[in-house]
Amino acid sequence: MSHEFVIYEAGEGLATITINRPQALNALNPPLLEELLAVIGEIRRDPTLRVVILTGQGKASAAGADISVMSRYGTCDGLRFADLGHAVTCALEALPQPVLAAVNGFALGGGTELALACDMIYAAQTAVFGQPEVNLGIIPGFGGTQRLARTVGLNKARELILSGERISAEEARRIGLVAEIFAPEELLAKVREKARVIASRGPVAVAAAKRIMVRGFGLSHDAALELERQTFSALFGSFDQKEGMTAFLEKRPAKFENR
Ligand code: CAA
Repeated sequence: MSHEFVIYEAGEGLATITINRPQALNALNPPLLEELLAVIGEIRRDPTLRVVILTGQGKASAAGADISVMSRYGTCDGLRFADLGHAVTCALEALPQPVLAAVNGFALGGGTELALACDMIYAAQTAVFGQPEVNLGIIPGFGGTQRLARTVGLNKARELILSGERISAEEARRIGLVAEIFAPEELLAKVREKARVIASRGPVAVAAAKRIMVRGFGLSHDAALELERQTFSALFGSFDQKEGMTAFLEKRPAKFENR
């Protein structure tokens, strides 16, 4: 499938999605978001893919939702746009494969929100994060009001969202938004190294851990622990659990089959 705004590459168990609208700093318009959704659907249907990397072309990962498009919106358009943004961020979060954000530059508004829907965020030293929506008379609409607080805590999220201030990659790392920072020219290679480590682990277990860590957030502590108990025990019915433990006892690398 060919796309206008998204480059999709897959091979050796890794999928890379590159947002490709550099002339507008990868501003997120509806067709771009639809393409992202379609690519995420393709990845979901391919059990040979173990890890996904999300990045951007040029000097931005995404400088937010497209302001020229939103400037013409009324309330119903705003609702449809939020629905589309939520569909994309929730689809990333619901993928069985972990998604690593490789933030190469500006990640503002919807750009930070896309990264927040990923499982880990890695950034170039030159990356800039922020939720500047209040400068435009709106609020974050692709999940930022909820996911940012889960990631960095309510106080820091309030400070960022209510002030609309941008922060550097270093500050984003300090507050726990970013896992690690790399030189811009090394970013993709380093994130691919991280991806390969995860890709070598038991994929059924990795998907299960991802799923219950996201789902557990919305549950009471007791319900979340029960979800862990059930998921833990269910994994003993998988080929990968037998293989992982047999390989350990036989002192050889495991050959996981994602089943
Ligand atoms: N929407 C539409 N176009 C955008 C854009 C956006 N979010 N961000 C950048 N662009 C366009 C610019 O209009 C410009 O286009 P032209 O060359 O045609 O004029 C081009 O990209 C390059 O941008 P700049 O000239 O502004 O580049 P810069 O290096 O001087 O500044 C920037 C970079 C600081 C990121 C600046 O572009 C900027 O502030 N962008 C807007 C950031 C923002 O407010 N994002 C939040 C959007 S709201 C949102 O995302 C809501 C939500 O939660 C879903």
